[in-house]
Amino acid sequence: MEKPGPAADALAALTPERPLVLAGAGKMGGALLAGWLKAGLRAAALRVVDPAAPAPTSALLARVAGRVEAAPPEGLTAGALVIAVKPQALGETLPAFRPLVGPDTLVLSIAAGITLATLGNMVGGGQVVRSMPNTPAQIGQGITVAVAAPGVGDAQRALATALLSAAGSVEWVADEGLIDAVTAVSGSGPAYVFLLAETLAEAGVAVGLPAELARRLADATISGAGALLAATGDDPATLRKNVTSPNGTTAAALDVLMAKDGLAPLIRRAAAAAKKRAEELAKGG
Ligand SMILES: NC(=O)c1ccc[n+]([C@@H]2O[C@H](COP(=O)([O-])OP(=O)(O)OC[C@H]3O[C@@H](n4cnc5c(N)ncnc54)[C@H](OP(=O)(O)O)[C@@H]3O)[C@@H](O)[C@H]2O)c1
Repeated sequence: MEKPGPAADALAALTPERPLVLAGAGKMGGALLAGWLKAGLRAAALRVVDPAAPAPTSALLARVAGRVEAAPPEGLTAGALVIAVKPQALGETLPAFRPLVGPDTLVLSIAAGITLATLGNMVGGGQVVRSMPNTPAQIGQGITVAVAAPGVGDAQRALATALLSAAGSVEWVADEGLIDAVTAVSGSGPAYVFLLAETLAEAGVAVGLPAELARRLADATISGAGALLAATGDDPATLRKNVTSPNGTTAAALDVLMAKDGLAPLIRRAAAAAKKRAEELAKGG
């Protein structure tokens, strides 16, 4: 029999008496939930709180259908509380979860822009970890950056890593100040890539392709290039050079994209705008 990995070991700390309580089972919460079940978390060690009680979207989620509640369970201390409600709903949502939080409870938030200090005040204790996942988490291929409040224990960090691994890879930073920059790169980044697919398809039409074909070519090019980048582990500059013959077609396009006023300054400006907005949102703007 295969030996359980570190994620399964960390998840084993969650029991029916000290369960994982998930607040919000929307897009991101639902994706995490599916990942946890796949990673071997027992449905009995889970309590899902979502007043809208979303219909299970898969056979996997149907396993926890009976464990979805409209309000936080009473009379227990959670092993972990995962906060996956919209940031603007946190203020009215979290007070009701305070009784679930004991000194050792991992409080793991994925809410964008809500600081460790604010989370700590809202839940009134626990071992608080703030994280920023991104949307490929929905298929287990996201990347999440996490930061822990001072004093968070090793066991809680390991549990946070195990829970976030359900969404893809996990990176830890020590400085919470980096999270706004993380948001500008990986948090908002998938939208930049989707826009690239859209504009590549439009450019295909402009150079004479039928719209449907241009769209299929653009989508497959973006996903294929991403898969190649992931599969080879080569750095993107090497992959770009490998596909660029001197004086060839790709070189002609890259001369435009890599010009002084090309893609690099544009993406730099976009990331700076995202970071600035993340800072404003964190301040309540
Ligand atoms: N989606 C992403 O790519 C992404 C990326 C990074 C971070 N995040 C963060 O992930 C969090 C969730 O985003 P999402 O896209 O998954 O949003 P979502 O699909 O709207 O999910 C939020 C869920 O929480 C439920 N909810 C509302 N009030 C609640 C309460 N008092 N108790 C329990 N559940 C409650 C909502 O129900 P109703 O629909 O009835 O309100 C909804 O089902 C956000 O904080 C967001 O910042 C998301």
